[in-house]
Amino acid sequence: MAKPKVMVCDQMADGPLNAMKEAFDVDVNTGQTPEGLADTIGAYEAIVVRSATKVRKPAIDAAVKAGNLKVIVRGGVGIDNIDHEYARSKGIEVMNTPAASSISVAELALGMMLACARHIGMGTHSMKNGEWKKKELKGVELNGKTLGIIGYGRIGREISKRAEAMGMTVIGHDKFFDCCPVTQRDMEPLDQILSKADFLTLHIPYDPECGPTLNVEAFGKMKKGVIIVNCARGGTIDEKALLDALNEGTVYAAGLDVFETEPPGLTDLIKHPRVVTTPHIGAATAEAQQKVGDEVVDVLKRFFNV
Ligand SMILES: NC(=O)c1ccc[n+]([C@@H]2O[C@H](COP(=O)([O-])OP(=O)(O)OC[C@H]3O[C@@H](n4cnc5c(N)ncnc54)[C@H](O)[C@@H]3O)[C@@H](O)[C@H]2O)c1
Repeated sequence: MAKPKVMVCDQMADGPLNAMKEAFDVDVNTGQTPEGLADTIGAYEAIVVRSATKVRKPAIDAAVKAGNLKVIVRGGVGIDNIDHEYARSKGIEVMNTPAASSISVAELALGMMLACARHIGMGTHSMKNGEWKKKELKGVELNGKTLGIIGYGRIGREISKRAEAMGMTVIGHDKFFDCCPVTQRDMEPLDQILSKADFLTLHIPYDPECGPTLNVEAFGKMKKGVIIVNCARGGTIDEKALLDALNEGTVYAAGLDVFETEPPGLTDLIKHPRVVTTPHIGAATAEAQQKVGDEVVDVLKRFFNV
């Protein structure tokens, strides 16, 4: 029997790609524009994307017209680069690999907390300019502080374990449960988290209908001098409100991996001396890439029963 035809549209680790080629008839075609994808998609029963390739309605319409595409697999968590509801309405399944990068993101969030608390970014930057700011860069410990986790899902729970091991008191808030179904930890209302936390970290998706979770009102409820980390999604924090809060001292420092617009350019927020930034690299580790690839292959094998 002919192997199912699969098009891999974004970078994949070599090991999983080779494993995929044993079970499927694979073409690798990276860097396609949405229009380009509409020209190529028709020949395949499955396509695999990461975050770079956008699968929009015209490509889905082209796939429906050709009648071959059965599944779109997103290697990673968020499926916002796929018009997933439209695809499903046309009978095309959309699947992802949500757990593969949780530890990598949790470790980056922890790194952001440490970088903010100990001025690692500013120390590096000033020394590259030939400065020795030993007196100015006095920080705080994580030990003994309260960490508020907003979104107690896969990544939230991973950071919770690590933060407790570092001597932090963890409090969590989740919009969809009062008690975590996995750890049985009681959740707290958002207002409580905002008023108690010395550190706040977000691990939620962005919902355009609700707007930013950390908006002007939320900043007004925070403890003075809080450190904020966002390795979740751009839009979950109102960036203008964050900049104002940094300038007023409500927020002491922020560690940001995700932005309202990506790339954000050189905004006042990016330039702020107490803001540590990375270019959306939460899942960009060798281990996460390998796990994402392995899970993509498993998802495809289960879907096609091969
Ligand atoms: N920086 C990166 O490169 C990177 C990599 C992977 C994942 N992410 C992002 O991290 C986020 C969390 O991923 P996850 O795997 O832990 O997801 P998850 O679905 O396991 O957990 C998210 C949790 O947030 C809760 N939630 C949703 N909206 C909420 C809200 N408005 N307020 C409070 N709680 C809310 C959900 O009930 C859920 O428990 C996702 O947005 C994902 O896109 C970022």
